[in-house]
Amino acid sequence: MYSREFQEIVAFRRSNRKFDPNVEIPADVIRRSLEHAVLSPNSSNMQLWEFYWLRSEEVRKKFVPLCMDQQAAKTAKQMVVFVTRRDKWKERAAWNLNRIKSTIKGEPTSIQKRH
Ligand SMILES: Cc1cc2nc3c(=O)[nH]c(=O)nc-3n(C[C@H](O)[C@H](O)[C@H](O)COP(=O)(O)O)c2cc1C
Repeated sequence: MYSREFQEIVAFRRSNRKFDPNVEIPADVIRRSLEHAVLSPNSSNMQLWEFYWLRSEEVRKKFVPLCMDQQAAKTAKQMVVFVTRRDKWKERAAWNLNRIKSTIKGEPTSIQKRH
């Protein structure tokens, strides 16, 4: 069962297409959002992502054309760029497997062997 708060968030959130220049987003809100983002479920827990938090206006401006000059990008005071690191999958899969193996003590069970 969902909490009422969660249902309200899902029902009433909207994609923002233009940001109010008078509203500042506290850095802590972005930081906590990113901390939550890295807890997302992801394929084989490989975490093939990188998040770049763009704070300087100079850097953000360079990204506006990459966002097709959309109002949301032009008016945003903070931007987070999500990058997929497909090149890292072998390295991360090996890291993950080693981590799982290191938790197995003695002979692996039939379930552990399957993984
Ligand atoms: C992967 C993805 C890409 C999107 N890209 C854009 C975009 O480039 N520009 C935009 O204005 N909205 C974009 N949206 C927002 C959708 O248009 C929006 O979620 C949809 O119209 C429903 O509106 P709502 O989010 O306000 O309920 C994107 C949404 C997703 C999930």
